[in-house]
Amino acid sequence: MTEVHAESLDSLRDRTSEKWVRYPDDVLPLFVAEMDYPLAPVIAEAMTERIRHSDTGYVASPVLVGEAFAGFAERRWGWIVDAASVRTTTDVSVCIVETLRRAIRPGDGVVINPPVYAPFFHLVTEAGGAVVEVPFLDDGTAYQLDLAGIEAAFAAGARALLLCNPQNPLGLVHSAESLSALAELAARYDVTVVSDEIHGLLTHSTATFTPFLSVSDAAREYGVTVTSASKAFNLAGVKCAVMVAGSARSLALLDGMSEEVLWRTSILGMHASVAALTHGDDWLDGTIAAIETSKALLGSLLAAELPGVGFRAPDATYLAWLDFRSLGWGRDPSIRALDARVALNPGPDFGTQGRGFARLNFACSPEVLTEAIHRLAST
Ligand SMILES: Cc1ncc(COP(=O)(O)O)c(C=O)c1O
Repeated sequence: MTEVHAESLDSLRDRTSEKWVRYPDDVLPLFVAEMDYPLAPVIAEAMTERIRHSDTGYVASPVLVGEAFAGFAERRWGWIVDAASVRTTTDVSVCIVETLRRAIRPGDGVVINPPVYAPFFHLVTEAGGAVVEVPFLDDGTAYQLDLAGIEAAFAAGARALLLCNPQNPLGLVHSAESLSALAELAARYDVTVVSDEIHGLLTHSTATFTPFLSVSDAAREYGVTVTSASKAFNLAGVKCAVMVAGSARSLALLDGMSEEVLWRTSILGMHASVAALTHGDDWLDGTIAAIETSKALLGSLLAAELPGVGFRAPDATYLAWLDFRSLGWGRDPSIRALDARVALNPGPDFGTQGRGFARLNFACSPEVLTEAIHRLAST
């Protein structure tokens, strides 16, 4: 397995992405979901090779990405994807908006489950829908989908559900049982499920990721998966994401989109994604191992220096949902964190359940993480 290590702060500050330009150099940026690891060499080579050939025109077809994704899905999750049912566009956010636009009529309810990735609130309205919130159930140790609440929302007329699988910011990998129950509800109420699986590629060794479309015929009939290599391989800026249909019903949604939606895929994004999904397993395993090491370090740093902060170790991705409520840091603890020169995402952006919380990105070096927790503990 390739060993993956975060780059030094000096070289990271040469990057021009959001993570590295938003704040002055004295702030440790542990906010937006970008990783501090260097690009996988197979991806860098694939992109450089295309540039060498001046191959920077339009993408001709989704076939290359479809085949690469189908290979990846079968190898990593045992999920059989028909490459002919895969379409591409720029990014997962566009996949969500374009799929929802076809699944609902203006004003229809779309269920989301907060606390959830903040842009979900805006993507639903961009697609013409009305947000219907069905928050997660929390017994104090574990979160779970509120299936009874979701059924009530479907019965009241919601026409789609936007699922986050695994869940950002909770790092929750949904069980096959809960996904199967959700698919049954979707079938009963004729509701489309758009399953955002962008973090599924980053599932830890502590859990098993279940792709929504793999759970049942009902899921394949009513579901569309939207995903990308972009979180797992740090490719957000190169613009390529996939939409997967599991049935004629869901393929009709994808093929109802304007051809322009497909044309917007970036050709460099396409080649980067094909390289990642075809030749990136070893690098990805090394990255997941680095993330799991960082997760363990975060747990011990918090226990030693900030024992009042609530932290449930995530089973996927590199985001920690931190509960500052017992510290009295107010509604938005990220304000006080920024005073301590650490940038976190404000919890309330993820829904009202996020009051008193903040999200921390731990895909960074042990030195940066240690210094960040030390700064938070010293404020
Ligand atoms: C759950 C989830 N969906 C979508 C995105 C955005 O993906 P994209 O950049 O492909 O639009 C993110 C980014 O962090 C995310 O966490």
